[in-house]
Amino acid sequence: MNCKFWKDKSVFLTGHTGFKGSWLSILLNKLGARVTGYALPPPTNPSLFKQAKIDQIVNSIEGDIRDRKFLLQQIKNSEPEIVIHMAAQPLVRESYIYPVETYETNVMGTVHLLDAVRSTNSVRTVVNVTTDKVYENKEWEWGYRECEPFGGYDPYSNSKACSELVTSSYRNSFFNPADYSKHKVAVASARAGNVIGGGDWAIDRIVPDCVCALSKGETITLRNPYSIRPWQHVLEPLSGYLLLAEMLFTRGVEFAEGWNFGPEDRDCVSVELLVKKLCKIWGENSSYTISNNNSPHEANFLKLDCSKARNRMKWTPHWHLDDTLNSIVAWAKGFQKGQDIMSLCIEQINTWLRA
Ligand SMILES: NC(=O)c1ccc[n+]([C@@H]2O[C@H](COP(=O)([O-])OP(=O)(O)OC[C@H]3O[C@@H](n4cnc5c(N)ncnc54)[C@H](O)[C@@H]3O)[C@@H](O)[C@H]2O)c1
Repeated sequence: MNCKFWKDKSVFLTGHTGFKGSWLSILLNKLGARVTGYALPPPTNPSLFKQAKIDQIVNSIEGDIRDRKFLLQQIKNSEPEIVIHMAAQPLVRESYIYPVETYETNVMGTVHLLDAVRSTNSVRTVVNVTTDKVYENKEWEWGYRECEPFGGYDPYSNSKACSELVTSSYRNSFFNPADYSKHKVAVASARAGNVIGGGDWAIDRIVPDCVCALSKGETITLRNPYSIRPWQHVLEPLSGYLLLAEMLFTRGVEFAEGWNFGPEDRDCVSVELLVKKLCKIWGENSSYTISNNNSPHEANFLKLDCSKARNRMKWTPHWHLDDTLNSIVAWAKGFQKGQDIMSLCIEQINTWLRA
């Protein structure tokens, strides 16, 4: 990641009030970018967005990605060079309850965004953030490559696979690499794995659930202890998105395709092992139990093959699982002690940048 690249770049970031969006806002602000954020209010209470007072460092616009006219107006007003699209309904279990809303936000939201880019002259680069769950899950032990077929069992995963197809269609139809010299817009998508870190307050995600239980001295309940996931600190895929945006901006359509950003194999472990490690680092009064309740279907085995990003962009993760879990515990304990949240995040970003 070339930190100097971002100085004074105009960035339109959707989903800036969420977990990843808040961290990305802090990182972009530190790198000197001018950020306009577009999202609904924070999806959780408390939220990292409010705790770190992100509205003081970005031009924060409250808007719905399903509101096509308002979105277009805001993109035109802010004249971004780079668009990073992260606004989404991102939870599998929520998508079983609200499938229609999940598709509306995740699929039509992407259509609205790409169509707004089509009607704007300033944009050079678009990164659409999807997920590792876009691939047809075969429950095998190999990592999925970018050339593997899309699928998606549940509405969330499938809506993100649809968002990939939308991206591909807009790229072919309106931002075709063969005509790059005419339109000068390079569009790519980024697929990352299970992202964890301090400041995630989402319900029904394993690490926030654990941190919440540990903070109250309660026993953690595990739903899917044997599921294997590609765990990574939130800063890792964010660095991938930024590197991808930089490559698209500086080298154009050479990078206008789908990219995986996941951890190394040794960090793809079961939910139970993750929680065991987290409890050990937390220390006193930490324990977990396994729930026998029937949960909706979720894939058991999911890994990404990131050879492409490693070989062509020289992207690799910096922190491994233990570093990541240490940083989560440090963040949670800093929060408990009343430490300033923005300083806590900046401190962790500095440590990670040094790594
Ligand atoms: N957290 C993970 O483990 C993970 C893994 C892979 C991919 N992702 C993807 O990364 C992105 C960010 O995820 P997150 O974990 O920060 O989620 P989050 O729920 O914390 O944030 C979601 C953001 O989208 C916004 N949003 C939701 N519906 C909207 C709408 N209709 N209009 C405008 N804004 C809307 C929310 O306000 C919020 O800013 C999502 O696209 C998600 O699918 C997340």
